[in-house]
Amino acid sequence: MIFSPFVFLALLSLTSAHFSIEYPYWRGSSFAEGTSQWIFPCANVTETADPTNRTAWSPTSGSLRLHVGHHWALTYVNIGLGPNATNFNISLVDHFNQTGNGTFCLKETGKSKLVAGLKAAGLEGEAVEGVQATLQVVQISTTGGALYNCADITFNSTAALLADSECANSTDVGGITVVNANEAANTTGTPPSSSTASSTAATSSGAAVGIGVAGGGIGGILVAVLGAGMAVL
Ligand SMILES: *[C@@H]1O[C@H](CO)[C@@H](O)[C@H](O)[C@H]1NC(C)=O
Ligand SMILES: *[C@@H]1O[C@H](CO)[C@@H](O)[C@H](O)[C@H]1NC(C)=O
Ligand SMILES: *[C@@H]1O[C@H](CO)[C@@H](O)[C@H](O)[C@H]1NC(C)=O
Ligand SMILES: *[C@@H]1O[C@H](CO)[C@@H](O)[C@H](O)[C@H]1NC(C)=O
Ligand SMILES: *[C@@H]1O[C@H](CO)[C@@H](O)[C@H](O)[C@H]1NC(C)=O
Ligand SMILES: *[C@@H]1O[C@H](CO)[C@@H](O)[C@H](O)[C@H]1NC(C)=O
Ligand SMILES: *[C@@H]1O[C@H](CO)[C@@H](O)[C@H](O)[C@H]1NC(C)=O
Ligand SMILES: *[C@@H]1O[C@H](CO)[C@@H](O)[C@H](O)[C@H]1NC(C)=O
Ligand SMILES: *[C@@H]1O[C@H](CO)[C@@H](O)[C@H](O)[C@H]1NC(C)=O
Repeated sequence: MIFSPFVFLALLSLTSAHFSIEYPYWRGSSFAEGTSQWIFPCANVTETADPTNRTAWSPTSGSLRLHVGHHWALTYVNIGLGPNATNFNISLVDHFNQTGNGTFCLKETGKSKLVAGLKAAGLEGEAVEGVQATLQVVQISTTGGALYNCADITFNSTAALLADSECANSTDVGGITVVNANEAANTTGTPPSSSTASSTAATSSGAAVGIGVAGGGIGGILVAVLGAGMAVL
């Protein structure tokens, strides 16, 4: 098939705006034929069939490294329990504004929320060992459309976090609190207070959000930007 230069450029910009999960190893490439990041819940990528081929992730939380292509995107990280999860009802990271392109890494993703979510599902202590689950990452950008990617994991308390050398945000990559539309005008010059844990990751556009820390002080949603993308969540 021969693409005109125009179509090629359009595809190029579409692709660069997508994202990938680098760790834990994703289900499979969502850039491959027959897949699409626009498809809920996991980009039409089939779940990992071989149980030994899932990344071991600690039930007290693990690392998540993304390669992101947007200038910014509202980002969510959820977990669904089971070998072929369809119900991503544990929210590790509520919407935050992931800014910048390149590598984005959370060392210990939504720690307290994971522990609480597992507990709610009756999974504590030994019971959680070996339980299969799927991490779902959702990014919603300027157009309001949602992009999905998933990574299949097995809970294992011996699983280690990524080392600092493997888990660092690119320069100018970080996250900021989502602001309410009616407060936006007031936030200029008074960035939201940053958590001590992530203050070094503050971007030039504002203070860092304490993602992965309980609460996080994340504000409201800029409804106008979200559009139809929210409906599927
Ligand atoms: C494990 O997963 C990777 C990535 O999806 C794949 O390339 C590989 O073939 C799988 N290995 C097995 C044994 O299923
Ligand atoms: C999604 O996957 C199914 C099963 O592999 C396939 O039939 C379908 O065409 C895929 N959808 C898209 C939009 O690629
Ligand atoms: C996994 O879930 C998907 C979506 O619900 C379904 O199409 C598929 O058949 C399931 N696979 C298995 C092995 O159950
Ligand atoms: C980020 O975006 C800029 C401008 O679009 C581009 O020049 C740069 O290569 C991108 N960086 C990465 C790591 O994708
Ligand atoms: C989430 O779904 C799992 C089953 O997939 C269920 O066991 C658990 O109770 C649910 N948790 C909440 C908080 O609804
Ligand atoms: C957890 O990981 C260790 C080290 O890879 C392995 O020996 C053990 O069997 C795993 N436990 C479960 C329940 O999968
Ligand atoms: C990356 O940025 C986010 C948002 O500011 C922050 O929570 C996280 O801790 C940073 N990652 C690392 C490895 O510092
Ligand atoms: C996210 O941050 C970028 C860069 O600061 C900003 O342009 C964008 O409006 C923010 N989006 C939301 C929904 O807060
Ligand atoms: C914006 O700031 C002004 C002055 O501090 C204050 O009076 C006003 O209530 C603020 N508006 C909003 C929506 O927070």
